[in-house]
Amino acid sequence: MSFLSTRGMARPDLEELLDLAGEFNEVLARPIPKVPALQGKLVANMFFENSTRTRLSFERATRALSADVMSFSVGASSVSKGESLKDTALTVEALGADLMVVRHRSTGAPWRIAGWVGCPVVNAGDGAHQHPTQALLDAFTLRRRFGSLDGLRVAIVGDIRHSRVARSNVFAFTTLGARVILVAPRTLQPVAAAGWPVASTDDLDEVLGEVDVVYLLRIQAERGGLSVFPSLPEYVSRYGMTSDRFARLSPEAVVLHPGPMNRGVEISDLVAAHPRALILDQVANGVAARMAVLFRLLGGKP
Ligand code: NCD
Repeated sequence: MSFLSTRGMARPDLEELLDLAGEFNEVLARPIPKVPALQGKLVANMFFENSTRTRLSFERATRALSADVMSFSVGASSVSKGESLKDTALTVEALGADLMVVRHRSTGAPWRIAGWVGCPVVNAGDGAHQHPTQALLDAFTLRRRFGSLDGLRVAIVGDIRHSRVARSNVFAFTTLGARVILVAPRTLQPVAAAGWPVASTDDLDEVLGEVDVVYLLRIQAERGGLSVFPSLPEYVSRYGMTSDRFARLSPEAVVLHPGPMNRGVEISDLVAAHPRALILDQVANGVAARMAVLFRLLGGKP
């Protein structure tokens, strides 16, 4: 069994992972934040695309379960000598990996690898497609804050078209009972969104007072996100989370962002530092969420 996408996941399966994450969060608060659950297992981190948080978070999660981790990054690997994705995956399998965490700029790469190797694969982000552990940690962050996602009104704001985070979150959040509205210029809304269980608008100011959560996204310049609106200042004037816009949110509303932030674009410094911006809570919660996934896939006993 692999963990590749939130699309089509059943609510009880998501909730089971969130419950497990809650238990692992308690482990992480102990003086010795470690359990022996996955002793002897080997997790391979295979990052064919850059990462700070996701990669470190998987490493930390792996070690907190007492498994070993081996890491691969594309720049320092034989991929630069022309080795194929398949040969790379088979090599890592032959080295004894019990599970592979894969990030790749191409949509579908983790599915391809899952078809070639015998061990579980976790998708740590494929192109603009899916990033399911991010969705899990975001849902976990919201559940801790609000108790439940049922009825929660969530606006996802920004470069939805190029965002794997948005695609994973839409399905995880709505499956857990939240109501999602996509907020972006029309050129940054995906055509496929017509088939998603969401509403959409191009007017952020219209929805500010009506939501519990504003989930901000970075413009994905590396996927062409900058080319579809006239200028950054214009984007900021209509979609930037400035102090002025933050002040118009309801008093309980929170701001989330998956990182990396582009300060001064989708979020201002002052908003990023506000106690109702949960950005570093998301990072911290990511460790427990990933522990839940690793534990579930590697069949550890509680
Ligand atoms: C995101 C990613 O890489 O998909 N970051 C993350 O994993 N927390 C979002 C992004 O790059 O904007």
